[in-house]
Parts: sequence; structure tokens; C-alpha cells
Amino acid sequence: MEVIVKPTAEAASAHAHDLLVAHMQRSPATVLGLPTGATPLPVYERLVASFRAGLITFRTTTTFNLDEYLGLGTQHAASYASYMKRVLFDHVDCPPSQRHIPDGLAKDPQQEALAYEAAILAAGGIDFMLLGLGHNGHIGFNEPGSDFASRTRLVDLTPSTLAANKSYFAQDQSPPKQAISMGIGTILEAQTIVILATGASKAEAVVRSLAGPATPAVPGSALHLARNVIFVLDRASAGS
Ligand code: F6R
Repeated sequence: MEVIVKPTAEAASAHAHDLLVAHMQRSPATVLGLPTGATPLPVYERLVASFRAGLITFRTTTTFNLDEYLGLGTQHAASYASYMKRVLFDHVDCPPSQRHIPDGLAKDPQQEALAYEAAILAAGGIDFMLLGLGHNGHIGFNEPGSDFASRTRLVDLTPSTLAANKSYFAQDQSPPKQAISMGIGTILEAQTIVILATGASKAEAVVRSLAGPATPAVPGSALHLARNVIFVLDRASAGS
């Protein structure tokens, strides 16, 4: 496990971007695992700029997002499918058939989760996974208590996660209380994991994930069991 601390959130995001770009340049036919949320926004902005500058292409890249709210489809502004279109896919050359996000509108979410796992397997597994970290230590939508062997499945969101994500929804909308999320076991199988955390509000989750012990009470601590993990932090989230 490697820990890199940069002076600012911008510098940490730039570093995560640089790791991803270097990987894509080395392995153009790669399989990426991608997060949503506020933390990776500067990374996506930089990726779009790198694509426009001709440094990378997504033509041969396959992507798997970590999660999607149950009941939300591409048309909903707060869905992760629409987030990904807005911040990345509308601006790069990744063919739609190579982008995967769990279908929040699936009639049978359990079946959708199984199909998602099968698609990851068929793609040969995830080469490079970019993660964010929840205030309660969640990775993907694997909330505290999630089994380290868990696979993609329907999950219940905790009140703290619902509160943290409420700002993405209009005042008269209540965020879905469930999501389809890659499991911790699925995440741990990635060849390389880069977890980006920025801001003082993440410091406690960072220290609990990094210090160990690896416990389901802190999903981020499962990363101790992964083969190749890089924590990319700013000073605020590193508590320094
Ligand atoms: C979202 C995801 C979540 C977020 C986490 C942090 O796809 O997987 O684990 O990474 O909730 O969210 P932000 O970056 O908004 O603080």
C-alpha cells in the first residue's frame, strides 16, 4: 500500500489523473472502474482535457461504474448514468457499448447485479479502479458492515450517506434509499486501485481506513487486502 500526500486537493486530483493517464497510455485496451461524486470531478475535467490534447483515447477502453441509485435512469439528473455523461462520456470517444453502469431501472435488480458481475468477468476483470471514500468509510456504496467478500448487489444506503448526497436532488425529491453497487470483493480483485480523498471532512475515514485493522466496520480498511493500492490524499484529508 502506497500513500501519496499532495499539498492541495487540486494537486492530489492532478496526481490521480496522471496515474490514470499513464496507465491508459501503457494499456490502451484497459478496463477501468470509475466512481462518481464530488471528489473525482477535477480528475474527469483533466481527463477530458487530456483526451482533447490527444494524450489518451477511450476508443479501446471499457468502463464499469461502481454504483447506481435504484429507481433512477439516465434521464434523471441525479443518476450516476447522467453524471457520467455530463462529466466524461459526452466529451470523449468511449463507445456506448463499452461503458457499463448498473441499470437503476432494472425490473429485477438482483438479476442486474449478477449480469453486471458477469460482464466484469467477461471483460477480464478491472485493471485500474479509481475510488472515492465516503465520510463513513464506504467504498462504492458498500456501507459499514458490508462483507469483504461481497459482490455486486442491491444495497441499503445509510442515513449519513443519504444526507451527504441530498444536495444532488431537488428539494421536493427524496434520494433513493437503495442502490446497486459493486461489492467489496469485486473491488478488491482490481489489479490496481487508486483511492482519492480530499478535504478535512474525509480525514477520519482516511485514518480509519489506513490505520487498520481491516474491519467491515470501515469498508475502506478492506483495501489492506488488495494487491496494489495507492491512497492519493491532500494534506487536509491526511490530517497534516
Ligand atoms: C460513488 C461512490 C462513493 C463516493 C463516496 C464519496 O460512485 O462510489 O463511494 O466515492 O460517497 O463521495 P464524494 O466524492 O462526493 O465525497
